Parts: sequence; C-alpha cells; structure tokens
Amino acid sequence: MIDIHCHILPGLDDGARDMEEALEMCRVAQADGIQTIVATPHCRNEIYRNHEKTIWPVFEQMQEAVSRAEIPINLLPGADLHIHPEIISFLKQNPRLLLGGRYFLLELPAHSIPIYIRDFIFQALLAGFVPIITHPERNTVILRHWKIIQDWVKAGALVQVTAMSLTGAFGSRIKESAFHLVRMGLVHLIASDAHSSKRRPPILSRAREILEGLLGPSQAQAMVKTIPEKILRGEPVDTTNPTGVPPPKQSFLKRLFLRHFNN
Ligand SMILES: [Fe+2]
Repeated sequence: MIDIHCHILPGLDDGARDMEEALEMCRVAQADGIQTIVATPHCRNEIYRNHEKTIWPVFEQMQEAVSRAEIPINLLPGADLHIHPEIISFLKQNPRLLLGGRYFLLELPAHSIPIYIRDFIFQALLAGFVPIITHPERNTVILRHWKIIQDWVKAGALVQVTAMSLTGAFGSRIKESAFHLVRMGLVHLIASDAHSSKRRPPILSRAREILEGLLGPSQAQAMVKTIPEKILRGEPVDTTNPTGVPPPKQSFLKRLFLRHFNN
C-alpha cells in the first residue's frame, strides 16, 4: 500500500517528535503492509510555514536514517498545504513538494469553506496543478452539506478520506460522513494522515477492510495502491468515477431522508 499523507518528518510540525518516533512510525507502517510513505509536513498555515528549504534537509536525513535502520520503506517528499490564495505561486517556487510533478494535498479549515475555493480549484488546474482535498469528511460544514464536493470533483479535484475516519476513531458522525462520501463515489483514495506511532499511527489495513465491505476488494485496492501509484507517476485519475463503481441505488425513503438531512 501507499500512504500519500503522513506527518512523519521530525520536528517540522505537530507530527513525529524526533527521529526515533519517525522511525517507529516507519516500522508500524511497514508491519501494516505499507511500502511507500509520502512525507507531508504542514505548510502555509499560521503556525507552520514550511517550504522546500525547511523540508528538504530533514527529508534527506530521514531517508538516511531509514536506510541505516534497514526499514524497507520508500520515503518520498511532499507537503500538506492549508488552503491559501497564494498556494499556486508557492507550488511554482517549491516544485519538489509536488506529488508526481502535478498533485498537491489541499487542507481545508476545520469549520468553514473559503468562499473562493471553486475559483481556487479552477486556477490551480489551469496552472497544471491538481488538488487532492484532504479529509473533507472532518469538515463541520461538509458534514451537513456534502454535495458541494460534487462540484469540486466534477471540476477535476481529487478527494482523500482519512483511514481513522472510516474506522470510527474520530467519532460516529465523521465515520458516517466518510462512509457516505465513499458510497456516493466522491472518494478517490485513503491515507493515514498519521501524526505519531501510537495515537495517530500510519495504518491503512483496517480502513481497507472496511472499503472492501463497502466497494469490494479491487476498488478498495485502487484506493490504497492503484490510484496513489498513478498520482506518484503524475498520471491522470478519472475524478468522476474514482473506483469504477457506480454509487449504489438508494430507496425512495433513504433519498427523502438524505435530502432532508442535507438541506
Ligand atoms: Fe495532514
């Protein structure tokens, strides 16, 4: 499996505290069946202002440490970018933080949706960059108005749900929201968004099992391997039909309930 969202680089954000914990996270990931981790420290929010020059030396140190410790994990560089109007110029100045030369993780605020998000997605795509919207299932506005994601996906954005949301570790409401987005065909991949080796570990297998139950084994595999592989190779992903499975038909009563619930 491939984990494209992981706060594993030590000392750069609220992820791994030190190299020891970062290596322990690698061991946990490897034991879970993860072969590749993209190291994505927080960037462009008010607290963490990372960029290539702060990330690169730590990334190289960590690659060395992983190979010295003989942990069979492939580590790649990336970034977790909080939404900000200047992201496009940031990406042009920090191209080594792109995934596959064109994709980037886009983090929304926890309790709001910026009014400029649609324009931002179009501008990013026009500039040749594809946003991967991270954990929308945890945004309190999207919990009530999930349909707004459809427009972003139709425009060409990808959606990543966090593994621990599917397992229920963030509560039943977020779990329900994650399930709903998956069932609606609005999720392209999952990632750990790990911050530590124990409390928020880099584990994908439990969420993959849940996806197998929701979508079947090949679609679950697509969300942890095939689609992340395409992203890392810079290949296009069909955003409108992420797993190749149409959303399940719902009963009239369920549709009525959902319409009422989401208005
Ligand atoms: Fe993150």
